[in-house]
Amino acid sequence: MLRPPYKEYTQFYIYGFRNTHPELRDFDDPDLIGYWEEDGIGVLFFHKPKDELVDSLVKKYNLILDVKDVVPFSEWNERRIPRPFKVGPIRIAPIWYEGEYDLRFDPSVVFGEGMHPTTEMVLNASWDLYNLDPTIEKVFDLGCGSGILTLLWAKLGKKVVALDYNPLCVRVAKHNLALNNLSAEVIEGDVREHLPYEGDLILANLYKGLLLELLGKKEFFSARYYILSGIVYTMCEEIESALAKAPVKILEKREKDNWVCYLLAHA
Ligand SMILES: C[S@@+](CC[C@H](N)C(=O)[O-])C[C@H]1O[C@@H](n2cnc3c(N)ncnc32)[C@H](O)[C@@H]1O
Repeated sequence: MLRPPYKEYTQFYIYGFRNTHPELRDFDDPDLIGYWEEDGIGVLFFHKPKDELVDSLVKKYNLILDVKDVVPFSEWNERRIPRPFKVGPIRIAPIWYEGEYDLRFDPSVVFGEGMHPTTEMVLNASWDLYNLDPTIEKVFDLGCGSGILTLLWAKLGKKVVALDYNPLCVRVAKHNLALNNLSAEVIEGDVREHLPYEGDLILANLYKGLLLELLGKKEFFSARYYILSGIVYTMCEEIESALAKAPVKILEKREKDNWVCYLLAHA
């Protein structure tokens, strides 16, 4: 995340380990961007080269350094450079943009910089659904990443519960809520382990395997609406055959750049 004196990202100095250590979660350094931990591996991201510091961490925590790399910010996230955008009338911008915006966010190194078609479709479908049904009160954001979807719904005055199993996503989402003086519950955990999600709307910008797993569980169908994303066009058949067996009807199917997003209502 960005903290003074850093006002924007230029390069990511990346140190990847084949293992991790619980204490690294609380490790801090003025040049640290974040510590990514997933599936037993860990990655430190810095604004500057930190070889000496990383050597000392390797010794202290018995880490196995596997990858050392420098990636320009412009090449991160498949070169999707975060920039200001609008959802309905709501103006959203990365924190380093000056000007009048309704929501600001720090994308950090996690998914959710707003430029990916899967996110864009969920944001726009969210805005349309908000207008279609003003009675929506409680929203679940499954796999919140940077918290971009949570920010939108919290800004719209709704109660939001966000989940991600990546501790860095949880930190970034909380940081982004605080940047905007908004609140939501942000939980670190696997979305498969916190069912049912009893509320009005479930947002799930995930991936096919996980979506199919969730669609196969009857406890998943505990909301009035669902927005599913993260689906490549060629996966539609599989997703739609799972939906045909579920207690939902497809209200809309949106497409952008080979990605598909479904807006569903409980049948
Ligand atoms: C495609 S990103 C979506 C981020 C953001 N919601 C957006 O729409 O831009 C998917 C997120 O889901 C998280 N995720 C993937 N599998 C998960 C699981 N089983 N439990 C919790 N989070 C998961 C990832 O860490 C990632 O942050």
